Amino acid sequence: MLDRINQLAEEIKSLAASTAEEAEQLRIKYLSKKGLVSQLFDEFKTIPNEQKREVGKVLNVLKTQALDKINELKEGFASNGQGESGADLTLPGTSFELGSRHPLSIVKNEIVDIFARLGFTVADGPEIEDDHHVFEALNFPPEHPARDMQDTFFIATNPDVLLRTHTSSVQVRVMEKQQPPIRAIFPGRVFRNEAISARAHCIFHQVEGLYIDKNVSFADLKQTLLYFSKELFGADTKIRLRPSYFPFTEPSAEMDISCSLCGGKGCNVCKYTGWVEILGCGMVDPAVLEASGIDSNEYTGFAFGMGIERITMLKYQIKDIRLFFENDKRFLDQFKSAE
Ligand code: DAH
Repeated sequence: MLDRINQLAEEIKSLAASTAEEAEQLRIKYLSKKGLVSQLFDEFKTIPNEQKREVGKVLNVLKTQALDKINELKEGFASNGQGESGADLTLPGTSFELGSRHPLSIVKNEIVDIFARLGFTVADGPEIEDDHHVFEALNFPPEHPARDMQDTFFIATNPDVLLRTHTSSVQVRVMEKQQPPIRAIFPGRVFRNEAISARAHCIFHQVEGLYIDKNVSFADLKQTLLYFSKELFGADTKIRLRPSYFPFTEPSAEMDISCSLCGGKGCNVCKYTGWVEILGCGMVDPAVLEASGIDSNEYTGFAFGMGIERITMLKYQIKDIRLFFENDKRFLDQFKSAE
């Protein structure tokens, strides 16, 4: 038996494995319950007692050697970076890529921040509206031609359930609930039945503003919009107000800013005029105040509304409005550092 033990000891000394899997096979071959070493231990029970002392010693040494050898082989693979599956655990991990904010959200947040500095709070209203809040209370009588300015999506066949065509509807919701002073902006999504092109979409975003108090004047409106324009487009920005018409304001105006691209010298963005239109505004029509329960003898106010897509396109020189809604990662990735 001693000979067989020595023979096995020699065999074990020269064992080699080229994978963790092979090392495991060797462990099974020599050290598992039915392995070669264990078999010798079984046999050991049957030898004469006087030999047990000597043989037992050598057999125990063999077992230790076998264990050491197999562990050594296994460890070799662990330090090679290979786990039991053979995967290389030293390879660098895959990092998770963070998303970025959508350009429309970046600009909306910026607009909210600027007006917050002037004391404007933020409110919102429903996207699915009724005729009263979108049109009637804003001084659009039923047959008023100004309703043609807005191509409305109706829900089912009910003419009183519709998608809001502008965020001006939130003015009405706020005035119904709250007495002046009111100083708030309303960012939100609006819907119009328009053909989709590079310049128009059937879904877009607006920010509406409303300021109602005693003695609010057109000069307040002008100064508020000048401050806003300089903050958003840079300190050199100039504004210009052109007379216009909206049913809910009187007088009404459209506001242009000096072209932020060419600084007013003329380029293809401002169509060589030096100016670009960015919003509509005016003094809230007394009929609008009265329709929502505000005394127009005591209070006056101004309102304004702007398209977020349009402003974002100007700010980042984006030529096609459809890019905002396509979720093309190559487009969105360009705004990673814009916040
Ligand atoms: N609601 C208008 C639109 O969608 C924008 C607008 C113009 C809002 C003048 C106003 C305003 O509050 O005073 O085109």
